[in-house]
Amino acid sequence: MSTSEEPTVETEFVGRTYDDFLFRPQPGVVGSRRDVSLSTRLSRHLGLGLPVVSANMDSVTGAQMAKAMALEGGTGFVHRGMSITAQAEGVARVKRTHGHVVEQPLCLPRGTTIREAREFTLKHNITGILIEESRGSGILVGLLSNRDLPWTEDLEGHRVEEFMTPVEKLVTGPPDITVEEAERRMFDHRIEKLPLVDTDRRIRGLITKKDIILARRRPYSSKDAKGRLLVGAAIGARGDFLERAAELLQAGADLILIDIAHGHSEVVRRAVEAFRAKFGDVELVCGNVGTAEGATFLRDLGVDGIKVGVGPGRGCRTRLETGAGVPQLQAVREAWCAVGDTVPIIADGGVRDDKDIFLALCCGASSVMLGNMLSGTDEAPGSVIEDPGTGEKRKIYRGMTSPQAVFEALYSDEGPDLELALDVPAEGQEVQIPYKGSVLDILHRIRGHLRSAVSYAGEETLAAVRAKVLPDPLRYLIPLSPAARAESYER
Ligand code: XMP
Repeated sequence: MSTSEEPTVETEFVGRTYDDFLFRPQPGVVGSRRDVSLSTRLSRHLGLGLPVVSANMDSVTGAQMAKAMALEGGTGFVHRGMSITAQAEGVARVKRTHGHVVEQPLCLPRGTTIREAREFTLKHNITGILIEESRGSGILVGLLSNRDLPWTEDLEGHRVEEFMTPVEKLVTGPPDITVEEAERRMFDHRIEKLPLVDTDRRIRGLITKKDIILARRRPYSSKDAKGRLLVGAAIGARGDFLERAAELLQAGADLILIDIAHGHSEVVRRAVEAFRAKFGDVELVCGNVGTAEGATFLRDLGVDGIKVGVGPGRGCRTRLETGAGVPQLQAVREAWCAVGDTVPIIADGGVRDDKDIFLALCCGASSVMLGNMLSGTDEAPGSVIEDPGTGEKRKIYRGMTSPQAVFEALYSDEGPDLELALDVPAEGQEVQIPYKGSVLDILHRIRGHLRSAVSYAGEETLAAVRAKVLPDPLRYLIPLSPAARAESYER
């Protein structure tokens, strides 16, 4: 590691990126790949079970993607290309689902019509609604499950209280009930939802069977201390960024990402200082930088995570438009040589194959941010477009400063987001991605390949590989000639 005055990187990394190396196989020690731990650090105080995070892009991470990522052990950064309210609602939706306890369950007052209740369940994708005495009272009077909703259309104007299970017949639990006791109570009464109420019947939470079963099946999910899914959210560095951060934190965001294209800048210094002054030691990741000096700059500002990558992204045209950038593996290595493991590094962009993730981790990153690789999936925002002629299904993937994204930011129904629209000239592009199905399959594949890679590296955990390789990766990496690269990666 170098001092901040003279950052250095091994010359073999200069001008090099993922396809320039192969990992030299080491004697294997892994018995079963399933036992290989991929645990890593996301930021100074948060960890992950799978070292991947989804990019804060409007064609990659909304609430649905963030939820899927956290369930699989990674996390997602909800993008900021929308109003503050919409982004905060996205964060809240992630926090509401799949924890042991839904802390602020959605409620409707007893006078709501069946029609309104039906629309509400569809909008929020829920199967049961707690019914409260009057709007905002928080006093439980019943539970309306999908089963209670009448089938015939002539009852749409009736009030939910006619169909709900009234509180006198409901099984409930106290706010501090243990997961084990909740499970027992739910099984004994063969129920799927357990409202938590205090002695005044005030609603204090909800436990669902679905969430408990999911938590069991996925012991590696990324959770906060209360068992809720871990989620990040992006803000800018100007304008209403502090107001946005306040709303996101209020909605339950576990970490905030200050994300601008050129993170090694006075704008970011001012933003981080203002953020710290207002929010104290809230977990804060910052980016993007692509050099040792940039990483040192962010470390010295006291951030909890450094996002590294200038121009490697699939939807990115920065290098073409400006000539500025650093080959991604060099950037990751420079950053690590400058700051070591004092501040975790997120390698952002340019991952095309699963092996790129492993190489980034071996050369300095603690986790890797993916855009393109996770796009085109069910969980990514946007609709599937089907070509009526060929039947081919596609989704859109676009850079956050693509002309299309900038245009939408300017002409959105929620009013123009001038900061997003005018901050940077168009340096991104839009591409159509073949529809890929569920992101869960991609994450399972990445998990499997990373475990195999750890095995080839002769260790039982990713942490052990990093500890062994990071001090001198060139002992383990083979630089490739054009012929060797073609043999390895051209198929
Ligand atoms: P991949 O290669 O995974 O990269 O798709 C995702 C990352 O690309 C960056 N990004 C952009 N960079 N102009 C840029 O210069 C853009 O319009 C743009 N949009 C996304 C971003 O860092 C993302 O995480």
